[in-house]
Amino acid sequence: AFEVECRRSGVTVDVGPGQTILQALKAAGIGVMTSCEEGICGTCETRVLDGIPEHRDSVLDEAEQAANTCMMICVGRARTPRLVLDL
Ligand code: FES
Repeated sequence: AFEVECRRSGVTVDVGPGQTILQALKAAGIGVMTSCEEGICGTCETRVLDGIPEHRDSVLDEAEQAANTCMMICVGRARTPRLVLDL
């Protein structure tokens, strides 16, 4: 499990092992635009302000993934105990 802080909303949620970031945010009442929810459309692309995401999408190319400045939160997870998102 890891924590996701939504800096603009001032809300922090725990993301459990069987849950996506998107599901955890929705449960906390944070609305995010989504479509495919499978990491292929790019609709849920979110800026990462701190922490290192674990990318699981097929939207970003290798260089974009390595930059760690944005992620697809419908499938992506975290490599650090905490991620800070621009939400
Ligand atoms: Fe399509 Fe996340 S909703 S990539």
